[in-house]
Amino acid sequence: MGSEPSARIETVLQEERVFEPSQFVRKEASISGIDHYLKIIDSAKAHPERFWQEEALKELHWFKPFESVLDWSNPPFARWFDGGKTNVSYNCLDRHINNGKGEKVAIIWEGEPGDVRRITYKELFEEVCKTANALKDLGIKKGDLVALYMPMVPEAAIAMLACARIGAPHSVVFGGFSSEALRDRLIDGQAKVVITADGGFRKDKIISLKDAVDTALEDNSCPTVKSVLVVKRTNESVSFNAGRDYWWHELIPSQSKECPAEHMDSEDRLFVLYTSGSTGKPKGVVHTTSGYNLWAHLTFKWIFDVQDNEVYWCTADVGWITGHSYIVYGPLSNGSTTFMYEGVPRPSKPGAFWEIIQKHKINIFYTAPTAIRAFMKSGRSIPDNYDLSSLRLLGTVGEPINPEAWMWYREVIGRDNCPIVDTWWQTETGGVMISPIPTAVSTKPGSATMPLPGIEVDVVNAEGESVETDQGGYLVIKRPWPGMMRTIHGNSKRFRETYWEYLKPRDGELVYFAGDGARRDKDGYYWIMGRVDDVINVSGHRLGTMEIESALVSHPFVAEAAVVGRPDELKGEAIVAFVTLESGKEFSEDLLIILKSHVVQEIGAIARPEEIRFTNALPKTRSGKIMRRLLRSLASGEEVKGDTSTLEDRNVLDELRK
Ligand code: PRX
Repeated sequence: MGSEPSARIETVLQEERVFEPSQFVRKEASISGIDHYLKIIDSAKAHPERFWQEEALKELHWFKPFESVLDWSNPPFARWFDGGKTNVSYNCLDRHINNGKGEKVAIIWEGEPGDVRRITYKELFEEVCKTANALKDLGIKKGDLVALYMPMVPEAAIAMLACARIGAPHSVVFGGFSSEALRDRLIDGQAKVVITADGGFRKDKIISLKDAVDTALEDNSCPTVKSVLVVKRTNESVSFNAGRDYWWHELIPSQSKECPAEHMDSEDRLFVLYTSGSTGKPKGVVHTTSGYNLWAHLTFKWIFDVQDNEVYWCTADVGWITGHSYIVYGPLSNGSTTFMYEGVPRPSKPGAFWEIIQKHKINIFYTAPTAIRAFMKSGRSIPDNYDLSSLRLLGTVGEPINPEAWMWYREVIGRDNCPIVDTWWQTETGGVMISPIPTAVSTKPGSATMPLPGIEVDVVNAEGESVETDQGGYLVIKRPWPGMMRTIHGNSKRFRETYWEYLKPRDGELVYFAGDGARRDKDGYYWIMGRVDDVINVSGHRLGTMEIESALVSHPFVAEAAVVGRPDELKGEAIVAFVTLESGKEFSEDLLIILKSHVVQEIGAIARPEEIRFTNALPKTRSGKIMRRLLRSLASGEEVKGDTSTLEDRNVLDELRK
């Protein structure tokens, strides 16, 4: 890791308010109260493998039962439920239909222009089977990777389940990424097919997804991609490449509605999802069949506890892990009704979310702190105009939530009546790891509370030793869990080094290093303090500073770049770039705009720097390492504290201060 992590975990949040779970306790809940919760926690701790075995047999359908629960003989490469055969799409569809729930609504979807679709489990099953058959027609076989680059339309979920049905791992690329970023992911994953749309509605604009796919595939740069399947969504005119491109509406409807679910081995890949790290290009996080399915299923059931007649809405995009686990797989595996929205709130539609909650009588609502802070800023008069009385549980994910935003969420959106579940987890963990169980755990504003049953977490120092109560340290996970990532696609060395060898505990047991700082309070509650590596979190989007630096340096005028996060009231962090130019090139306002657009072109709009500061030199140590700690202080207008004696040239600092 390139920076000095401990410098970032000094801040200690102080928050004394506690909210009891009592008003929420319900007989029907999957975890009915504190006694039940403690019983589960204790049994998972005492006999972890027996616990996972029982849950896996109870919660999933097995074509063939597994022979072993966990094989940890070759850490950090875990194997879960070896010998077992199952299929995630079967667990999400067939078994509910077999249980008489075929007519239940699986997905309610609202499109950006207000069009609504309600898809029952039976209809979803048929659409998934037809799509799976179409993929087979396109030559996709078990093990082939299918990429998705789609707007938030039901076809995205259908395509994911169709891939799962035939054993073709999917790689969903967020529709806001640029064609360059898409190309990198297609090449790394060796995708065979890309599923996309003519366009997608994003805020008040249309984004040309198909054009971006065409650009990504130009000059045969992704030779493994043989076909592109295109959903018609916006009616944009798009160019069509005969023999490669197919319209969804021409290929799918004529397919058979039957497609037997492939019997998948537990450790067969379900998907690859790219996420940013502190070094190099984004890495393809690999999740496999049974363990991921069980973890998405169980965590959804424990935390959100959706009743049969309820509607659950997670506002994420399927391009992120939250969309995978808590729009598609978790809810559908549980037979719940999941709501999907194509749009996002914006100045022209500030009440969009509240209108939807009122209209569709949403019961459980799961969103990101950055959205809550934006709502707070526009004032409570907007949500106060809507009837939000259907809500009974609120969730947050993606970044630390400040106590003020937590309280606002509780009082204004939850009318002081809905518990809040602040859920900490990552792309790598597959599902939530630390979160209150709303029927059992008291909540404190700003704390994700305690690890879920079966999850053993600690806060340690750089030597891997547990730190004292209320001391900041590194958040680690001490035991394997079913939903853990299995490796980085094509780079098991990087997997081992990044996550399992960063901290070296004395007892030799490998622990998973999450990349976050945290502290544990006297009640055993965890307070997540944000990333301690060179990853920044902008509006809940995870970005590697190196990725943005590489994008800047790829511009011919830029000699060097260093990117840091600056605390931002709304976004959590804002991107600040320090840039030196090639000799002979001049700083100018125009160049500033050009460089910002260049980053957008290389990565996507989510990576646009908020600020670019031109400088003649960057502060470096004598060994040539950029001193990001100094840059972080400078970017946030703080006094530069700590040791600056290793600085090669102190004049650089003086110049930057000016
Ligand atoms: O820093 C933590 C932050 O988001 C990171 C994971 O990002 P990603 O893989 O994109 O997944 C986001 C959705 C699960 C974590 O390392 N993070 C996520 N949830 C929380 C959080 N930080 C504080 N509190 C949370 N509830």
